[in-house]
Amino acid sequence: MKIGIIGGTGGMGKGFALRWCKKHEIIIGSRDAERAISAANEYSDLAKDTYGNVDGKILGRDNISVAKESQVLILAIPYPNIDSICSQLLPEISNECVVISPIVPMTKTDVGFECISIKENKPFSHQAVEKYMNDKTKLVSAFHVISEKKLINPTLSLDYDIFVVGDDMNSVKVVNDLINEIEGLRPIYLGGGKLSYLVEMCTPLLLNAMIRNKMKNPGIKII
Ligand SMILES: NC(=O)c1ccc[n+]([C@@H]2O[C@H](COP(=O)([O-])OP(=O)(O)OC[C@H]3O[C@@H](n4cnc5c(N)ncnc54)[C@H](OP(=O)(O)O)[C@@H]3O)[C@@H](O)[C@H]2O)c1
Repeated sequence: MKIGIIGGTGGMGKGFALRWCKKHEIIIGSRDAERAISAANEYSDLAKDTYGNVDGKILGRDNISVAKESQVLILAIPYPNIDSICSQLLPEISNECVVISPIVPMTKTDVGFECISIKENKPFSHQAVEKYMNDKTKLVSAFHVISEKKLINPTLSLDYDIFVVGDDMNSVKVVNDLINEIEGLRPIYLGGGKLSYLVEMCTPLLLNAMIRNKMKNPGIKII
């Protein structure tokens, strides 16, 4: 499968690339194609050092080319840039493309980590992204509650749940399968896209717990 990562030069993008390159063709996207190529080369070397030979590969391109080519497109970009990036890219994706949003509307204030959508009365990420999609049902929100620090270390053993929300069950299945490919992660489906706010608010919750209780990159596991 061709998995494109918009903002693939960031921490989450690196983690996804390293975790999925064993089986899939990963295309790192950036506003700057040169930066994407250099990140893709760096991740490929890391993957070779970790796994030896892999079936997939990691390439780099500008964001628009990545959007056009991908079968699964991950939006690994900051919340404030949703409008500028999605308005440009999402009209270019194929009808079959499943879009994954891990985007957290979060800010740090003097109180702690807070949710931008609640504090500033702005849309949650799922709603902000779907506005730009022809087929809104192909948007799946996931990966809000796993730290990049855990994903970028492929030898680290994981034991976490990943909440998944989306309206189209075929798209949800594609994302569940990708989650299951990462050893130690379990997809937990919560319901349709309108419930995405529940997951998006989990990240500031986790980060406040982390800071106040001196925990390291906490995650969530339902027992
Ligand atoms: N980090 C985590 O542990 C974590 C955990 C859960 C969810 N998330 C969510 O996952 C998403 C990605 O997180 P991240 O930490 O990987 O993000 P990041 O490193 O801050 O940014 C990712 C990429 O987005 C692009 N970008 C940055 N500023 C931009 C701008 N002004 N306009 C357009 N593109 C811009 C950059 O790519 P180019 O400059 O190459 O274009 C950058 O490498 C975020 O929405 C975050 O809330 C993160």
